Amino acid sequence: MNYLGEARDDYTPTRADKFSFGLWTVGWQGVDVFGDAVRAPLDPAAAVHKLSELGAYGVTFHDNDVFPFGASAAERDQAIGSFRKALDETGVIVPMATTNLFGHPIFKDGGFTANDRAVRRFAIRKVVENIDLAVELGAKTYVCWGGREGAESGAAKDIRAALDRMKEAFDVLSAYVLEQGYDLRFAVEPKPNEPRGDILLPTIGHALAFINELEHPELVGLNPEVGHEEMAGVNFAHGIAQALWHGKLFHVDLNGQTGPRFDQDLRFGAGNLRGAFWTVDTLERGGYEGPRHFDFKPPRTEDLDGVWESARGCMRNYLILRERSQAFRADPEVQEALAASKLDELARPTLDAGETVADLRREDVDVDALASRGMGFERLDQLAMDHLLGVR
Ligand code: GCO
Ligand code: MN
Ligand code: MN
Repeated sequence: MNYLGEARDDYTPTRADKFSFGLWTVGWQGVDVFGDAVRAPLDPAAAVHKLSELGAYGVTFHDNDVFPFGASAAERDQAIGSFRKALDETGVIVPMATTNLFGHPIFKDGGFTANDRAVRRFAIRKVVENIDLAVELGAKTYVCWGGREGAESGAAKDIRAALDRMKEAFDVLSAYVLEQGYDLRFAVEPKPNEPRGDILLPTIGHALAFINELEHPELVGLNPEVGHEEMAGVNFAHGIAQALWHGKLFHVDLNGQTGPRFDQDLRFGAGNLRGAFWTVDTLERGGYEGPRHFDFKPPRTEDLDGVWESARGCMRNYLILRERSQAFRADPEVQEALAASKLDELARPTLDAGETVADLRREDVDVDALASRGMGFERLDQLAMDHLLGVR
């Protein structure tokens, strides 16, 4: 209940919040390296209806979340028809789609960078076929997560040749999108490892550098995932801030992770909560206008009710953190602390217009005074902490 006595509080999502979920998230049956499925398959149409009821505006999919690998044309049409009907009935949109280039044994050594050329040719064709469907369903972003693009041992993969093949795949796919006149951009999703021992394009930074080598860098950006950067021990909020700075944050995968370990895919807000606070603060203040997409796995301990609790929790935590970040930024004491910590000075160019190194050389610097000056960051961070914990 909110203060007006309505059966919604300020943390109840609406479509304007642009929350989206992968079909594979709520549909995860819990098959992992150690155990079998714990939940029954979830019909994509049922997932669309329930996510709509919970307040999501979008769903995303891999080709094989909608129809099985190797489906006949009739099976494929039937499955897509049922999915499309649910979209029409609910008004839920498909902002993004992607390809499963990891599940079938044919992709055991990768898709775009498999050593076997015939596998690579098949992989590109599989992506093209799903791009056609993605565009038909209105998707504007096409994610490429190269989970199987990598190796377990040194001699098994010539990394420079593999990067040539990765570039070739993006160049071929970009040419196809342009030739078809599709309004679609690609988003590379970095991950350091799992399922491969080491994956190509392991972090945001690697992927950004790779994009610069492509024929059509303007068509390719990033889909960073919270847990994947934290698996590599780096700061997610810093990573997406840099992606925004390059104009490359095309999409985002929000979830939770507790430090460098296996990919936990917890619901958003679980795991590194302080990291989640700065992630929301960065997205909301950094001009990101795309979907707030959740890529999580409801734990195996949950039945279907628990799955929906977990999905609801992702959105609720985002909205709580958004409100906490707004309260932090609006607090006069925080504004004063930010100024005391010289954040405004950081935003000012180091040299004034027309100044050169000669001006720096002429300057009388009081080294001791500058060296002894405290920055006040602890006070600032405690203010953030107080807001995050809800005591301010
Ligand atoms: C992971 C990945 C995947 C991809 C998804 C898109 O958790 O390792 O996030 O879930 O995002 O498969 O291809
Ligand atoms: Mn993940
Ligand atoms: Mn992901």
